[in-house]
Amino acid sequence: MRIEDIYQCVESDFSSVNTLIHDQLSSRVPLVEKIAEYIIASGGKRMRPLIALLISHALNNPNSDNTVKLAAIIEFLHTATLLHDDVVDTSDLRRGKATANANWGNAPSVLVGDFLYSRAFQMMVEIGDMQVMSVLANTTNEIAEGEVFQLMNAKNPNITEDQYFGVIQSKTAILFSAASECSACIANSDKDKIEAAKEYGLQVGLAFQLVDDILDYTGDAATMGKNVGDDLAEGKPTLPLIFAMKEGSEEQRNLIRAALRQGDIGKIDEIISIVRDTGAIDYTMRAAEECKNKAIAALESLGDSTYTQALKSLAELSISRNQ
Ligand code: IPE
Ligand code: IPE
Ligand code: MG
Ligand code: MG
Repeated sequence: MRIEDIYQCVESDFSSVNTLIHDQLSSRVPLVEKIAEYIIASGGKRMRPLIALLISHALNNPNSDNTVKLAAIIEFLHTATLLHDDVVDTSDLRRGKATANANWGNAPSVLVGDFLYSRAFQMMVEIGDMQVMSVLANTTNEIAEGEVFQLMNAKNPNITEDQYFGVIQSKTAILFSAASECSACIANSDKDKIEAAKEYGLQVGLAFQLVDDILDYTGDAATMGKNVGDDLAEGKPTLPLIFAMKEGSEEQRNLIRAALRQGDIGKIDEIISIVRDTGAIDYTMRAAEECKNKAIAALESLGDSTYTQALKSLAELSISRNQ
């Protein structure tokens, strides 16, 4: 299925999610609405809400109201992390537009991120499901931990592959996993199905971030709507660099180590060539494919329907994407 067909599967719920997202942005303070609207209206693929809705349908959940709410909550949490992440990463381009921090500065971005976080928690209380609350509370806590760990290790070329996988699990995959796990909880599924949904989300999330880290070296800013080379500028030791340092010559390794230590993108073209020539892109892509295959394997316990087919296609698209 193409991405348009996947959206089509859950079209009516998906438009309810978008309506709810806009309705829930209201605030007494005009700047909150302005910044929140700005980032929300600038688009985004809405991958996580899509997963929550598809899982719900795959599990035959008859009452979609709480799933729609869950999907909006997940998108709010995601958007809050983006507002914070762009401050931390000093990024100035997101979704093809100037980032909120570039437009209004760091302080308003951080505070509006907090607004979205806490609005998401208000909406969770409305759902009133302790299991969902518990998963989401743990998830947001782990995302914060992941981002802090990453920050502590910025400009550290000695990060291991295991540590890298720990970071991407915490900062990214866990939210995908929460989207699918909570959706299965709301559908009142049995334990095995909840576990399978959770595993699907986790593996898609890992694949998604692995590809994001590839695109930061091979992508095109106009297509991605974010800058290429931001990871190196922040001294982020992502898998393409970890592998290139391991496989490259002494000279290549030293060049990457120095660039990472200084967060220097002056030699980005040379580094991109090294990353390609050492097979680091292929290696990272193979890792993403493995995760994608695990995600698809997890779907087996969810039966066969248009919705599981859409989830399978979504897993495939998460690695073939260029934006
Ligand atoms: C960006 O996520 C942050 C990562 C986890 C890589 P998305 O690529 O889903 O961002 P939007 O919502 O589509 O802009
Ligand atoms: C994404 O990290 C994770 C979160 C936003 C929590 P990145 O820093 O790789 O995401 P982009 O590339 O800025 O979207
Ligand atoms: Mg970033
Ligand atoms: Mg990135």
